[in-house]
Amino acid sequence: MDVSEAVDRRRAARALDEKPVSDGLISELIGAMRLSPSCNNNQPWRVIVARDPASLDAIKTSLTKGNVWASKAPLILVVCSRIDDDCKLADRRDYYLFSTGLAVGEMLLRATEMGLIAHPIAGFDALAIKEKLAIPADHVLITLVICGYPGNDVSLLSEKQLLAEVERPPRKPVGENFFNGLWGKPWA
Ligand SMILES: Cc1cc2nc3c(=O)[nH]c(=O)nc-3n(C[C@H](O)[C@H](O)[C@H](O)COP(=O)(O)O)c2cc1C
Repeated sequence: MDVSEAVDRRRAARALDEKPVSDGLISELIGAMRLSPSCNNNQPWRVIVARDPASLDAIKTSLTKGNVWASKAPLILVVCSRIDDDCKLADRRDYYLFSTGLAVGEMLLRATEMGLIAHPIAGFDALAIKEKLAIPADHVLITLVICGYPGNDVSLLSEKQLLAEVERPPRKPVGENFFNGLWGKPWA
């Protein structure tokens, strides 16, 4: 699969199979994050690979209602970072979230290439998970990446989520986010 196909195919799908993800594939996901660029090569991400029942249970009992679909996941990556672990530059340019987000983005594409769903979420009780998984208080639990093989059981999905399985949620008109040479002048 080439990069453009991976970009096209990557979806935040929610119907998961419970089949485990092998050590080899997990190593590939980790490898993709490790090669990601970061400010000054600081590599500020810290990731708990959760696939044992105790860690998974600690996470799954702290999901928001809308994320109950993730309780089927055989693998969850708990992605954390800390402001002091990356560049802190003028004008609020604290790069830890940016560098970590880039690493997650690269990993999502590699997961897609390997036929996995890798779906980042923000809907969880971060403080509860931090406590249960011994994540230090000065780290931000940025996202959980819900991983697994695509499945057929859609019983845990809402109507909106069901629709999103088959149709990619729409994007804004390009000129709303992309400007032509000057702030606010829409890119046509
Ligand atoms: C930072 C972030 C937080 C998200 N949080 C959730 C979430 O809590 N629950 C969920 O089902 N999807 C979540 N998503 C997935 C988005 O809803 C999804 O990426 C978006 O609707 C676009 O769909 P697509 O990725 O399939 O193109 C999140 C995505 C990102 C990047």
